[in-house]
Amino acid sequence: MTSAHPEPLQLPLPYPVYCRAGVRQTIGEIARLVAPSHRVAVISDSAVAPLHADAIVAQFPADSTRLFTVPPGEQVKTRATWAELTDALLEWGAGRDTTVIAVGGGVVGDLAGFVASTFMRGLPVVQVPTTLLAMVDASVGGKTAVDTPFGKNLVGAFHNPAAVVIDPEVLNTLPEDVLRSGFAEMIKHGVIADAPYFDAVLRYAHAVRDHGASAPDFAATITTLVIGSVRIKAEVVAEDTREGGLRQILNFGHTIAHAVERVLNFTLLHGDAVAIGMVAEARIAESIGLAREGLSLAIADAVERAGLPSRLPATIPLDDIIAATHGDKKAREGSARYALPRSIGEMEAAEGKWSVAVSNAVVKTALS
Ligand code: GLY
Repeated sequence: MTSAHPEPLQLPLPYPVYCRAGVRQTIGEIARLVAPSHRVAVISDSAVAPLHADAIVAQFPADSTRLFTVPPGEQVKTRATWAELTDALLEWGAGRDTTVIAVGGGVVGDLAGFVASTFMRGLPVVQVPTTLLAMVDASVGGKTAVDTPFGKNLVGAFHNPAAVVIDPEVLNTLPEDVLRSGFAEMIKHGVIADAPYFDAVLRYAHAVRDHGASAPDFAATITTLVIGSVRIKAEVVAEDTREGGLRQILNFGHTIAHAVERVLNFTLLHGDAVAIGMVAEARIAESIGLAREGLSLAIADAVERAGLPSRLPATIPLDDIIAATHGDKKAREGSARYALPRSIGEMEAAEGKWSVAVSNAVVKTALS
């Protein structure tokens, strides 16, 4: 084939990840290479579709390609939407010879990925993340899921994508608060595995906080940072794809974040909740003697430089948060468990378990 699209990144993953400005214009070619099929179902949301999905649909034959859209927002990531999408695919005549292309943020990626993982026991899915957060986290690693009233991502499947196509150019159209929110997962990657990467994210965070995608040298710097994050995530999931141990470190900040999101009925951006969660969980690590005093301050400084919140809204009842942490997927035998940092770049291994049980009393003190 011709090489109109770039080489994938060199990563320890069983599928290619492409990351380059303009690569979205070659998704048709990439999909034909990694998942040749008779039909193409592009799944997006109604905000992203006119910006990016329509142009992707146009790269495939009109008579065998269809765009399926859902309303934007976490509220649609449900079993009901999964049923609507799978019914719509069946009605259209989709079969095992169909490739799904997920175009959107983490909600669309998780939802379309779950549709692909279950439809006729599994279709290939090409993930095309359009938010910074989805580029650096949700699109890579094969986790797919929907939320339930009991908590986030509680019904899902591991289903590796056929390819991930990251085009940092699409970040130019992202609302600034959504762009900033992506920095939370990048800061997380630095904390869990790579102190120099943490410093690199920090050096650029305030520029994006103040100028969004108009920050100096945005295209080149954000591409380098996205690749850095994808590399860290790829190395973790390559070692532990199904979250038996090490992969739990990617959940740093998320036990509290998911609880906060649930208590606030998903009105907070995911990255903002992760920012709050990382500071709170670093405080937990300090209070049980795993981390030295000062770690939570360093992480609070980092998230504030990115323009993200570092504290829980004062009106949230702490007991509600604590109750919600018990619905987390890491909870075992009635105890909430936390993936906790020892220092920037190092996580507590907990003898290979990579998460530790923490009492409600300790969590409450750390949060208050
Ligand atoms: N977002 C956490 C993970 O992929 O494991």
